[in-house]
Amino acid sequence: MAELSNIGYFVIGASDLDAWERFAIDVIGLQAGRREPGRSLALRMDDHEQRILITKTGEDDFLAAGWELDTHDELDAYVEQLRATGAVVTDGGRELADSRRVERVFACEDPNGLKHEFYVGAHRAPMSDAFRSKVLLGNFNTGRLGVGHVLAVARDPGAQRTVQFYKNTLGLRLSDYIRMEMAPGMVIDATFLHAATGRHHSLATAYMPSEKRIHHIMVQVENMDDVGLAHDRCAKAGVAFIHGIGRHPNDRMLSFYVQTPSGFGLEFGWGGIVIDDDSWEIKTYSQISDWGHVPPSPQVGGPGR
Ligand SMILES: [Fe+2]
Repeated sequence: MAELSNIGYFVIGASDLDAWERFAIDVIGLQAGRREPGRSLALRMDDHEQRILITKTGEDDFLAAGWELDTHDELDAYVEQLRATGAVVTDGGRELADSRRVERVFACEDPNGLKHEFYVGAHRAPMSDAFRSKVLLGNFNTGRLGVGHVLAVARDPGAQRTVQFYKNTLGLRLSDYIRMEMAPGMVIDATFLHAATGRHHSLATAYMPSEKRIHHIMVQVENMDDVGLAHDRCAKAGVAFIHGIGRHPNDRMLSFYVQTPSGFGLEFGWGGIVIDDDSWEIKTYSQISDWGHVPPSPQVGGPGR
């Protein structure tokens, strides 16, 4: 069975490319890649030419998750498997592959209308153009683990149909669950799924009211101090916080959450675990955070201020 390795790129729609450029480069610590003025901005996190593509669509939302397959044969076998489940899979052709900076790409939609792309052969920047962040001490944690993770909004109450699609159609592996009563009658029920290279989750999902297709994307750094420094830069730049610093019980991520210029969240994290499927046990956690991740208080002006 062909299997997805990781999410290797995100595609994001935006109305304000300049706001994204300031946020991504000066505050988060990404590097600008290829620009098409007024149309798109590529963001780098490592030796890939492009890990996050911001496109000026006028629609401030998440547009696509790009799943990596390791070889052309794996990609062909995976697309065949997908089609055998009844999924409608289109060949993106040269134009989409060029836009994503990959050799070949296919695409399908999940039951919530979120686009998933499947690719092989991400283009690398030349050796003379190594990744450089203006602000980070260390590097982003990418490589075989991919760009990060995404929490997709399920539109079906209980998210059963969504989770079935991710498990049985996309072929992702279950990591764990978090079920927590946030307030009387308001329960968060999140499912976390991983791909073959084992980032604790590449994709999570939960039923929630939301105008956006996702709740947040996550990028991870290798140096814990970069979390604190990024937190301070966000506060100084006046970026809106969603949750202050805290730690999740399941992936062990130490992180904070801010609002991106497209309106959904960005989790900036360190310390997320990698799953070894031979010894992994699926658990259900009863709280989202071991500590922290407190929403900003209007009385005190929010974290970091
Ligand atoms: Fe997350």
